[in-house]
Amino acid sequence: MSTAKIILGEKEYELPVVVGTENEVGIHTTKFRGQSGAITLDPGFGSTGSCESGITFINGEEGILRYRGYAIDELAEKASFPEVCYLLIYGELPNKAQLEKFSDDLTRHSLIHEDMKKFYEGFPANAHPMAILSSMVCSLSTYYPETGEPGEDDLNIIRLLAKAKTIAAFAYKKSIGQPFIYPKNDLSYSANFLNMMFAVPAEPYTVDPIFESTLNKLLILHADHEQNCSTSAVRLVGSSHANIFASMTSGICALWGPLHGGANQAVIEMLTMIHNDGGDYKKYVKKAQDKSDDFKLMGFGHRVYKNFDPRARILKAAAGEILEKMGVNDPLLDVARQLEEVALNDDYFVQRKLYPNVDFYSGIIYRAMGIPTEMFTVMFALGRLPGWISHWREMRNDPSMRIGRPRQIYTGPQGRTFVPVESR
Ligand code: ACO
Repeated sequence: MSTAKIILGEKEYELPVVVGTENEVGIHTTKFRGQSGAITLDPGFGSTGSCESGITFINGEEGILRYRGYAIDELAEKASFPEVCYLLIYGELPNKAQLEKFSDDLTRHSLIHEDMKKFYEGFPANAHPMAILSSMVCSLSTYYPETGEPGEDDLNIIRLLAKAKTIAAFAYKKSIGQPFIYPKNDLSYSANFLNMMFAVPAEPYTVDPIFESTLNKLLILHADHEQNCSTSAVRLVGSSHANIFASMTSGICALWGPLHGGANQAVIEMLTMIHNDGGDYKKYVKKAQDKSDDFKLMGFGHRVYKNFDPRARILKAAAGEILEKMGVNDPLLDVARQLEEVALNDDYFVQRKLYPNVDFYSGIIYRAMGIPTEMFTVMFALGRLPGWISHWREMRNDPSMRIGRPRQIYTGPQGRTFVPVESR
């Protein structure tokens, strides 16, 4: 199968077929408009591939997720987050020396310019930390403008990964009125972040190793998910050759929405609402099916997974295990389990293949670690950053990539004559 045919009116068009390494099939339509004058129309891009990519493979029907060929379960179990960042960005697992250097670089570039601290003074105390994260990441471009020097991209990649966690932790400290805690070079990526979040100058603080390893796992699970909404935003913005910081900012903003990464915050708000309403989860399962009601089961459904989100499976097990280890009894976990059970056996959800997604259980774990609800999407952004970077880098290094510029079918008024305001 090397070509596909489209018959449009009297004419037949032969289009090349592209087959991926996992036998995914795509019909290459780039030249179709030039040949026929017609476009392919696919709102929401359900059947449209925007690129060829060697980073992440998902088989939604079978619930498979792999980064650069490695199964997500294995990476979440055995790898460190910096190791996964390196793998995603550079395509191979680092050797010992490469990993040591990469991890060391990530530590040494953690500080943000002292002047950047002043930006925090301008934000209101109740500013959403996603607004702060996006503004601060974009403002990094003012400190590190692109010059085209060799090696600059690699250095900016390190800066981004290293500083994002500091920016995020400072956003939290700002929201609770506590002094900023500076990064410490002897801590791992995850422990460093947790220390900046929870340490206070008045007393010693040691990061709980359970929190550290849990955060490492969560970051890995979020690290990439091929052409999702935020990654596509990064690619689209980056395709105009906007700088890396501006491109990442677009990803952060896209992730913020409740239909995407913002769902982890929305899940906890939903579970709290159900709990406060007497825990009648069945009522909410019914409400989610009512087309006249805007209510959806947040944390359910996925554009790609029509089996089970493999990340949700790992997190469901982790949530129970971690809460037990920490001796936390969270009534929201019971509501979540009951809701999941009812929904999974309900015809509406079964027929539409709606399963819990990664956001359904992640919030419960973050809560148990003491991370406030408003920070959940920020946690997701920290995890997804290496994914965005690897897609940005893949695209910028691909000589065949053109600026992203979709077409449309115009449905507005046909040409008409301007009428002066006095005569309208
Ligand atoms: N609750 C109730 N019904 C749902 C839900 C839900 N969570 N999700 C989908 N449906 C229904 C739709 O109403 C539609 O029903 P219909 O066929 O009768 O019209 C059907 O299932 C198909 O859903 P679509 O909206 O067409 O699926 P789409 O792929 O466009 O959207 C999305 C996927 C945005 C994730 C959607 O399932 C949703 O809104 N879920 C809740 C928000 C959420 O959890 N987002 C996080 C996604 S994971 C991530 O981004 C990290």
